[in-house]
Amino acid sequence: MRNTVFLNDDREMPLLGLGVYKATGDNEAESAIAAAVSAGYRLIDTASVYKNEENVGRGIAKCGVPRKDLFVTSKIWNTAQRLGDIQGAFERSLERLKLDYVDLYLIHWPVPGCYLSTWKEFEKILDSGRALSIGVSNFEIRHLEELKKVSGIVPAVNQIECHPLCYPRELIEYCQDSGIVVQAYAPLARGAYLDNDVMCVLGTKYAKTPAQIGLRWAVQKGISVIPKSVHSDRIASNGAIFDFTIEKEDMDIIDTLNQDFHSSHVPEDLRDIQF
Ligand SMILES: NC(=O)c1ccc[n+]([C@@H]2O[C@H](COP(=O)([O-])OP(=O)(O)OC[C@H]3O[C@@H](n4cnc5c(N)ncnc54)[C@H](OP(=O)(O)O)[C@@H]3O)[C@@H](O)[C@H]2O)c1
Repeated sequence: MRNTVFLNDDREMPLLGLGVYKATGDNEAESAIAAAVSAGYRLIDTASVYKNEENVGRGIAKCGVPRKDLFVTSKIWNTAQRLGDIQGAFERSLERLKLDYVDLYLIHWPVPGCYLSTWKEFEKILDSGRALSIGVSNFEIRHLEELKKVSGIVPAVNQIECHPLCYPRELIEYCQDSGIVVQAYAPLARGAYLDNDVMCVLGTKYAKTPAQIGLRWAVQKGISVIPKSVHSDRIASNGAIFDFTIEKEDMDIIDTLNQDFHSSHVPEDLRDIQF
């Protein structure tokens, strides 16, 4: 199968990327990017709230792959949305990354009362050519429906938690029917399914690790995955998912493991409000 997916703006995005949340140690993101690039990854997923954009920028500059062959994502945090400081936050991300543009800029969370006006500012960023695509994260169907009422620009991507223990099928189908590519964050559930009996049995059957089975399950559904690791052996192993196919009956078995388990939580500033 292809290892990229077309976005609704005709741009191509790798199905596999490196997540760098919590890669905040000295040069941790930088060395993870070097390992990822040599393992064939071309997408890097960061965010202003991860506080590692400078280090990510150094990793990108030093990794040996031309900028045009990489796909870099960053995200706007909730505080900037509340302040209405969309353009400022975007400029600061670019400055920290030392980049002229990002490939994808995402609204990290649908902050109530803010996300629609944030999206109108995102349209201007898109027009300026400094974000080649724009999208959203943690949006539910109702947020996407609200967006549709105010904008003709459909988000290129909705980045949501998705893995065998968290499979929001209705939202995924809605996105895919609307031309929105789903990107799975926490695609390893931060380790929660790696010792699951079914995933281990399937791992043995395909001579793959449970992590590879979980990641492959997602990409076979056209869902992009951004596993995080700072260890080069894990980075390489997590990326080795394009040389086998999970049979339909096993895909269906993995679908049944869903228990709406979230390994990542709603941020504190959104916890007590209906969003
Ligand atoms: N948009 C959002 O709201 C949002 C939320 C959460 C995450 N994200 C993005 O999605 C990325 C991935 O999600 P995540 O970091 O939360 O979780 P994840 O990728 O599911 O899991 C990462 C954890 O699994 C470990 N790990 C990685 N490969 C492994 C392997 N092969 N075997 C055993 N353990 C392994 C990592 O440890 P080591 O690093 O020590 O290997 C780390 O502790 C993030 O880095 C971030 O870019 C976005």
